[in-house]
Amino acid sequence: MSLCLKTLNEKIAYIKKLFEDFKEIQIQSFSSQTKSYRNKAEFAIFHKDDDIFYAMFDGKKKYIIKDFEIANDKIKTAMPTVLNALNSNKKLKEKLFAIEFLSTKFDISVTLLYHKNIDLIKKELENFSLELKLKIIARSKGKKLVFNGEILKQELDIFEKKYYYLYSNECFIQANTFINEKMIEWILTELKTQDKKDLLELYCGYGNFTIPLSFVFDNILATEVSKKNIEFALENCKLNNTKNINFARLSSEELNKAINKERSFFRLKNVNLDDFSFSHILVDPPRAGLSKDVVNLVKKYENIIYVSCNPKSLKDNIKDIDTHELKKLAIFDQFANTEHIECIAILKKKGF
Ligand SMILES: C[S@@+](CC[C@H](N)C(=O)[O-])C[C@H]1O[C@@H](n2cnc3c(N)ncnc32)[C@H](O)[C@@H]1O
Repeated sequence: MSLCLKTLNEKIAYIKKLFEDFKEIQIQSFSSQTKSYRNKAEFAIFHKDDDIFYAMFDGKKKYIIKDFEIANDKIKTAMPTVLNALNSNKKLKEKLFAIEFLSTKFDISVTLLYHKNIDLIKKELENFSLELKLKIIARSKGKKLVFNGEILKQELDIFEKKYYYLYSNECFIQANTFINEKMIEWILTELKTQDKKDLLELYCGYGNFTIPLSFVFDNILATEVSKKNIEFALENCKLNNTKNINFARLSSEELNKAINKERSFFRLKNVNLDDFSFSHILVDPPRAGLSKDVVNLVKKYENIIYVSCNPKSLKDNIKDIDTHELKKLAIFDQFANTEHIECIAILKKKGF
């Protein structure tokens, strides 16, 4: 995470400038508390003499982290306890090179990353997990050990309705739970006045958007490349009693080939693509944005909802989606007090 700080006002000014070609566009913004919001934190471990410290790098510059004020209270409470316990155990701190905290409204897990065979410290790890009453995951090359479980339960409150999710630190997790809830509420509000049939969702993760949206669309086909995410997405359907979602483990590029009938996939054996009538497509790609093929795919649909953690790739993609007009743009301060910006754009096919 970058240590360069930026306020929401600075981000709004930046986005206004970046999107100045889109003159009629109104830009909405949603603020977050600027401290104690982040539900995940990753640190390098810095070894000095016999002690270890949390550290972060900004380019080549190293920062020792004593107080990580953007982390939520669960993580802030765990950080010193975990560090003290590690520092008092030679075997546990030796060759430890990184640590990750992941928390939900109910729970927290800690992942320890080692440059040594973790089988040799299995007993110490087990005691560490028992003493601290924490879910501990230890990883080294090709190995993973889990103590006290690794699955976390999350609850989202969307317009006073509760949605439940299970996931682990192998899934993609939105970093700011409050803003995540606001993003879902904003999309649902935007959809209220639109005609809706079926939704095609790309980059769906464990079903973060899919589950609440399944209650306003007839059917959803949601795709994602990561096997773990799809496993949890299927569990999350059961947890929320949703029956109108088909999840498929496919990259967006593979899905494009399937839709264009260039290739068939065993992973789509239970899905007939021709049965769907997609009125909307939702994409939430990684920072690089959409590839050329996926830009061509999204152009096929009347309504596009584009969730983006990189305004530059968002703008480049929107310029290439020349079949559509940018109707709305909202900034969500998901990464408050850092330079990162999350946006959602709503596009509609020209002539509709
Ligand atoms: C920004 S995350 C969004 C996840 C989800 N929408 C959420 O809100 O939690 C991007 C997701 O895209 C997946 N992904 C990355 N490259 C992909 C690709 N080429 N095709 C499909 N999914 C991909 C990642 O595994 C990750 O879950």
